[in-house]
Amino acid sequence: MDGLSLLALAAETVQRYEKSAPDFTIRRARYTDVPQLGPVERSAAELFRSANLDFLLDGPTVDQTFLVAMINANHLWVAVDRMDDPIGFVGGENIEGNFHIVEISVARLFQGKGVGRALMTHMIEDIRQEGYNAITLTTYRDLDWNGRWYTRMGFLEMDVESMGPDYWKIWQIEARHGFNMASRCLMRKII
Ligand SMILES: CC(C)(COP(=O)(O)OP(=O)(O)OC[C@H]1O[C@@H](n2cnc3c(N)ncnc32)[C@H](O)[C@@H]1OP(=O)(O)O)[C@@H](O)C(=O)NCCC(=O)NCCS
Repeated sequence: MDGLSLLALAAETVQRYEKSAPDFTIRRARYTDVPQLGPVERSAAELFRSANLDFLLDGPTVDQTFLVAMINANHLWVAVDRMDDPIGFVGGENIEGNFHIVEISVARLFQGKGVGRALMTHMIEDIRQEGYNAITLTTYRDLDWNGRWYTRMGFLEMDVESMGPDYWKIWQIEARHGFNMASRCLMRKII
């Protein structure tokens, strides 16, 4: 085969790969991912501008030490693009015997394409195998990509005080950070 034919064959192979390969995959997070997760979370938060919640963009992102602790506990997952660079992540910790989601974020450019749902599905499968039977999170009740989305995924709103003192502490921390608690809710999904 001559050089030109080889080049044409290579181009065709790349084209075929691009058509068949998924745009993202989900895997456990690695330490090398950690520096990229702050920028992903910042980019994700841009969405809150559309709900006049710009103040969320000024808050801190999840602390890197906390992200490393989640990796050590096998409780941090990333969605990565074809270059293996993170475009989204979900992580959590044990609160009162439940798996509590600390953060789920998908970079702005990749939102609305099923990445968040894939992260949730993957995480649920792993933590179910670990022995957890419930997931919890706090969120904005009436936003399409928060409470309404979680409701469609089977989450139900819970009474914070009935869930145990550690949930009450989370609730108070959010209040101190300036969240309007009347629009927030604690949700739980039995898995
Ligand atoms: C919440 C989030 C992680 C979802 O990730 P995603 O990749 O966009 O999620 P998916 O594409 O799998 O699904 C998004 C769902 O939310 C809805 N949604 C997403 N973006 C939306 C928008 N801008 N406006 C209205 N609805 C939106 C879609 O209708 C979709 O619902 P469906 O699956 O029933 O069709 C992502 O929107 C995000 O990072 N948001 C900013 C950070 C955030 O809100 N984190 C959660 C805090 S509790």
